[in-house]
Amino acid sequence: PTKIAVMTSGGDSAGMNAAVRSVVKMAIFKGCHAYVIREGWEGLVRGNDEDQGSNPTPHEESLDAGPESLAQPRREGKAAKIKFVPTYGEGELLKEGVSEAETVGLKGRYIVRVGWDDVRGWLDAGGTLIGTARCAAFREQAGRLKAAHNLIKHGIDALAVCGGDGSLTGADRLRAEWPELIGMLKDNGDITQAQFERYAHLKIVGLVGSIDNDLAGTDLTIGAATALSRICEAVDSISSTAASHSRAFVVEVMGRHCGWLALMAGVATGADYCFIPEQPPHGSWDDAMCDVLTKHKKAGKRKTIVIVAEGAIDKDLNAIKADDIKKVLEDRLGLDTRVTTLGHTQRGGRPVASDRILATLQGVEAVEALLEAKPETPSYVITIRENQVTRTPLMEAVKQTQLVAHKIETKDFDGALALRDPEFDE
Ligand code: F6P
Repeated sequence: PTKIAVMTSGGDSAGMNAAVRSVVKMAIFKGCHAYVIREGWEGLVRGNDEDQGSNPTPHEESLDAGPESLAQPRREGKAAKIKFVPTYGEGELLKEGVSEAETVGLKGRYIVRVGWDDVRGWLDAGGTLIGTARCAAFREQAGRLKAAHNLIKHGIDALAVCGGDGSLTGADRLRAEWPELIGMLKDNGDITQAQFERYAHLKIVGLVGSIDNDLAGTDLTIGAATALSRICEAVDSISSTAASHSRAFVVEVMGRHCGWLALMAGVATGADYCFIPEQPPHGSWDDAMCDVLTKHKKAGKRKTIVIVAEGAIDKDLNAIKADDIKKVLEDRLGLDTRVTTLGHTQRGGRPVASDRILATLQGVEAVEALLEAKPETPSYVITIRENQVTRTPLMEAVKQTQLVAHKIETKDFDGALALRDPEFDE
């Protein structure tokens, strides 16, 4: 049978477990063998200690779980207590916190066959239970060569990668380089001619898992809705204490170079002012902000809420930091001001329903795309546009995303500000 592997990579996001579950179950449903790759690209580069040399995937026979295994009694209910490989060989169990290195029985094993039951209870679990990493080795060709070798050693026919723009850029690089990599492996005698032919075409698909909602080509990334909802809860809480004391709060939110979380949180909470990277103010940001806030104060508002994206920039594209805003609020408006940096509370925790659904639908589509992949079809990233789950060429999505990031980094002012309506703040 076709072997399909799934991994999570880069910053975790809520809904990644639902995506893994969906890929695993859909793969098994389609008669494939399902694998997870623990710890993202890092795990794929490392491979399994035990396979130095041969082609071992031990205990395979015991794992032919199909949908019929739905009938099996559920072993343990809670995601945190998931017995990751209960149907796997000797029944090695994972401790709580499945992705921890002290994982019983999985130490030194990153490519692991999984059965239907292994992903039960994963829909509502936060983070990623198979672990993730930001992998330096994979940025080098030597690392990608090891990753390619490990995929072939384990006979993995197709790979689904759930991650943000960095991880999907990695996926795209592996795709582009694949013919060269397998040529090198053959020349080194690491793979046979038969393997070279069988794995000539890399089947790879991306699932966009990121709280930042910053990948071109998709309306929403897996985890963004949960992060937004968490930010809103926090701002709601802050609002009541702010109103009680007639205080101002500057709330810094994540998003890297993308202002989606900040802007949507501003709309959803009725914040007084937002700073986002995509729309640096034309002139002095402090004047613009103070004008608006003064009007709000005159209208009788007790509290003041300013939301700042961590990547916010001024007209010269220098960072606008929460503490700079606080100083202006205190010095110019005389407001008693506090700063709250929400940090990683935005990223962890249980996914909201829409992230579970998005991840599940996209996981199904990812497996379909992998099974339909032909040498002549592009590798896809699974996206959602106008509420339709769709496939977008991975190369295109990565290229467009990098273009925007590049414009911001190189201060290509006009391009970076393409979203701005020039009349907006005049
Ligand atoms: O990309 C997701 C994200 O949470 C960004 O919003 C943030 O800038 C970054 O990751 C934080 O990374 P780390 O968890 O490595 O500190």
